[in-house]
Amino acid sequence: MNGKVQKEAESHIKEASSQVGSNIATLPSWKDRFLTRKKIYILTMVGVVVLALGLGLGIGLTQAAAHCTHPKPASASTPSPSVSSTASIIQPSVGTTWDYPLGFSLATSNANKSTIFYPVDLENTSADTIAKLKSAGHTVICYFSAGSVEDYREDAGDFPSVAIGNTLDGWPDEKWLDIRNSQVREVMATRIASAASKGCVGVDPDNIDGYTNKPGFALTEDDTVDYVQYLAETAHAAGLGYGLKNAGAIVDRVVDVAQWAINEECAEYNECADWSPFVKAGKPVFHVEYVDDDDATSVSASKLSKACAASGQSGFSTIVKHYTLDNWVIYC
Ligand SMILES: *[C@@H]1O[C@H](CO)[C@@H](O)[C@H](O)[C@H]1NC(C)=O
Ligand SMILES: *[C@@H]1O[C@H](CO)[C@@H](O)[C@H](O)[C@H]1NC(C)=O
Repeated sequence: MNGKVQKEAESHIKEASSQVGSNIATLPSWKDRFLTRKKIYILTMVGVVVLALGLGLGIGLTQAAAHCTHPKPASASTPSPSVSSTASIIQPSVGTTWDYPLGFSLATSNANKSTIFYPVDLENTSADTIAKLKSAGHTVICYFSAGSVEDYREDAGDFPSVAIGNTLDGWPDEKWLDIRNSQVREVMATRIASAASKGCVGVDPDNIDGYTNKPGFALTEDDTVDYVQYLAETAHAAGLGYGLKNAGAIVDRVVDVAQWAINEECAEYNECADWSPFVKAGKPVFHVEYVDDDDATSVSASKLSKACAASGQSGFSTIVKHYTLDNWVIYC
């Protein structure tokens, strides 16, 4: 839905976030924190055992201690021999350069060598193209819509009709999905697996915040948080990074599970500060502002200064693009 629906969505987010403001404080990700503490505890115990064995067998302490820094052993009794999947998940740094040419056939020949982070369309970008972009030094992410069904997608028939809701405003080929539905989630797991097998190193699942629109289901902010956690866990299990797309109201609740954020038009709506927790956590915010004229070849100085220097966007990776997300781009 990139862009257009965003305008409406963002105003709803504002309403929703003021309504649920008090709930946000009472709904911390306690479970995550609990699990993290539990992991640290298990790690410590594994460490003690490994150290004791190491001493007994005369194995160097350095090696054993180094082993303890791995974040995620499968369990205390059967430590995984392979490198843990979290160890290899990408974490781009704040300020990484990017472009968002989802509506364009990106190839090494038309990619900017200095632009690192490139989301591409999962379905219509080949594994061969992804491999070439990666070997040219780009970080390639696979985009798909996680909260809507687009009629023209190969797997559009895999969604149960009970989980298909209202048409997206301004996007006649696209309908909201019930993100709580297990079959919907299975389709997304399959897409994430496809992203991994095509060689993408992360995913950009769009339209996760249907609750801010009129999806045709009684979706809530909590449903979106739950869905983000599901998508992030599924991506991480496949060795992929996960980025939060828009959904400013839930940033504080999911910044821990995402490796970056992608935001559309926070400068236009004076909401950039909502995403600043990502920068504080050392994670980039990939920010795009749009010009209304899809044929524009330049932007006014006032538009540019608003797009590039809005309050709250310090540290963001900002670009200006056409709504069509073609190859035209201005880097701030
Ligand atoms: C890829 O698919 C998206 C969504 O259908 C479309 O907007 C875009 O134009 C396609 N890109 C290419 C290069 O075909
Ligand atoms: C290439 O990308 C870099 C970083 O994203 C940007 O600063 C530079 O202006 C781009 N070059 C062109 C020709 O667009």
